[in-house]
Amino acid sequence: MNSDLSLDFLRVVEQAAIACAHTMGQGDRHKSDQVAVEAMRKEMDTVEMDGTIVIGEGERDEAPMLYIGEKVGLANQPGATRTDMPSVDIAVDPLEGTNLCALGTANAIAVLAASSKGGLLHAPDLYMEKLIVGPAARDVVDIDAPVKDNLKAIAKALGRSVEDLVVTVLDRPRHDQLIDDIRTAGARIRLIGDGDLSAGISAAVLGSGVHAVMGSGGAPEGVITAAAMRCLGGEIFARLVVKTPQDEERCRTMGISDFKRVYQSKDLASGEQIVFAATGVTDGTLMKGVRFFGDGTRTTSLIMQTHPHQIRFIDSIHVTPRDGNVRVRF
Ligand code: FBP
Repeated sequence: MNSDLSLDFLRVVEQAAIACAHTMGQGDRHKSDQVAVEAMRKEMDTVEMDGTIVIGEGERDEAPMLYIGEKVGLANQPGATRTDMPSVDIAVDPLEGTNLCALGTANAIAVLAASSKGGLLHAPDLYMEKLIVGPAARDVVDIDAPVKDNLKAIAKALGRSVEDLVVTVLDRPRHDQLIDDIRTAGARIRLIGDGDLSAGISAAVLGSGVHAVMGSGGAPEGVITAAAMRCLGGEIFARLVVKTPQDEERCRTMGISDFKRVYQSKDLASGEQIVFAATGVTDGTLMKGVRFFGDGTRTTSLIMQTHPHQIRFIDSIHVTPRDGNVRVRF
């Protein structure tokens, strides 16, 4: 992936976010997801690349679009003859936080990560245990250490006390013990209904008010988080939750045989060149949600890449005048 595709990926996530933002609060998570997928797919096919979806909406038989293995990009359009377009592996989550969008609550995003061929782990859609921290704490935590020890280490690295920390945790019964442990250690907790991917990104950004993410969430979200960590200098420690012989089989078909392995960002998103792109759907910690006004739409996005190493917050106004007279609001 030599060419700079970051601005192309920006428009891909912007279009997905705009499409599903129209459905915000309508209580129909499947519709929200479907329109995000359709918009992302359509825009993706205008990008000058030979793209392959490596993490997507599921296997071909369960996902009509953006399924794992699907070819995307201009190089794969009928009649395409050019052979000079870069080969790109892409992980997509057209709407991360389908419930958040359907309910109109915070932190729903449209997101993707891209890499040169083979640079993103082909992860089955299992749960993944995760510990995500920012740059200051990346070398002092251990996913197998007791929660209280990790919290002490994070607090020390950040020059504060454990009581000052905020840990984001998905509000699930499977996290009851974890929540208890964090409370006993004295740290503060932000329980979220969904969206451990955007929480993970926040943990790597100083000033976001999130100091760590703990608990298990989706493995695909973990891989996309890892791509973000490669750009932000934070770290994810992760282990697949493999419980049944069927889970084991799914892992094996994706080339994974060490089910206990602890992955870090360089393992999950190993590509030399990584691009991460996200647009806010609903208002969130790092990005505002999509706003519609008479003659256009405003989006905020986070675009990051490793080569050149850049982190950009992009505020876009997509002007669509109704009658030829442009009335842009700032
Ligand atoms: P969707 O966008 O697919 O609804 O996923 C939202 C999410 O909360 C992720 O952020 C998280 O990793 C995963 O679901 C957790 O799964 P579960 O809801 O099964 O606990």
